[in-house]
Amino acid sequence: MRVLLTGGAGYVGSHAAGMLHRTGHEIWVYDNLSEGHAAAVPQGRLIVGDLMDRAHLESVFREQRIEAVMHFAASCYVGVSVTDPASYYQNNIVGTLSLLDAMRAAEVGRIVFSSTCATYGVPDAVPITENEKQTPINPYGFTKLAIEHALADYSHAYGLGYAALRYFNASGASDENIRGEDHDPETHLIPLVLQVALGQRKDIKIFGDDYPTPDGTCIRDYIHVEDLASAHMAALEMLGAGTQWKLNLGTGSGASVKEVIDACRKVTGHPIPAAVVSRREGDPPELVADATLANETLGWQPKYDHIEPIVASAWRWHQDHPRGYDDRGAKG
Ligand code: UFG
Repeated sequence: MRVLLTGGAGYVGSHAAGMLHRTGHEIWVYDNLSEGHAAAVPQGRLIVGDLMDRAHLESVFREQRIEAVMHFAASCYVGVSVTDPASYYQNNIVGTLSLLDAMRAAEVGRIVFSSTCATYGVPDAVPITENEKQTPINPYGFTKLAIEHALADYSHAYGLGYAALRYFNASGASDENIRGEDHDPETHLIPLVLQVALGQRKDIKIFGDDYPTPDGTCIRDYIHVEDLASAHMAALEMLGAGTQWKLNLGTGSGASVKEVIDACRKVTGHPIPAAVVSRREGDPPELVADATLANETLGWQPKYDHIEPIVASAWRWHQDHPRGYDDRGAKG
């Protein structure tokens, strides 16, 4: 299929681009490189452009006869969305509406959208099903939820086929070790812990150990980035006109911050000093997916269902690329 991936130079998008490219889809990555890395994009498949440039998008759709879109491009730091909501509403909502308009104009009728478990806020029940109420507790979650609503309305009115994939915690690196996580600044737990093992950071701060969880630290559902990519591919291949899917992507099992740090100690053999500090604003105690619906709808099953192999895959990437894509790029 001929697919345009917005944000395909970013962490999740580049893994999806790599997988689609490998499996014979004709892909184009559309990215403004504000956060992404050109080196993460399969050779010769990058178009540098901005979501707000509707005319550019429309011409790419027409020239490349694009059949479907995967929309990864977004601002995705929960904390920054609280201090700088304007850029989140602009990039995530206004940018996406520009994309949807360009798709309508060029008659591209299918989209796989990166949504998030942050649309649930603090859930009433864990594991979280798609029927859980959606009451986000930060602007990032609100912007993603707003687009879920827009997609439903566009589908109803214009026949758009969409899958909104609600990721839990994306983690790990590509199986061939050519792509991995490289954010600037890095705020995610696993890469930060591994930076301690690499000697780039003195210790890891644990944001609160007084949560109502067995060891007092927050529990998250870490889902491997290649498993996210395979779910995107399955959704893309099965989407039809008017499809309306809202699916959780997680493993169904959670790991606490302390368990993640222990897994990193085991995998790296490094003692990894840790210090408990106060809670980080906006962190729900426990977010774990019930991904039954994605399994039933897409026939999708994560290959990685345990924290240790996920950490091991991230560790391979960080050891081999201690300065991320500055060291060397992806090759395929
Ligand atoms: N944590 C620490 N110390 C750190 C970094 C993180 O203790 O130095 C803790 C956090 O408090 C949290 C857990 O580790 O409990 C995971 O934190 P991350 O920052 O790695 O991930 P988040 O769960 O905050 O964020 C992820 C995605 C977001 C998404 C969000 C939904 O990165 O895009 O889940 O809640 F919106």
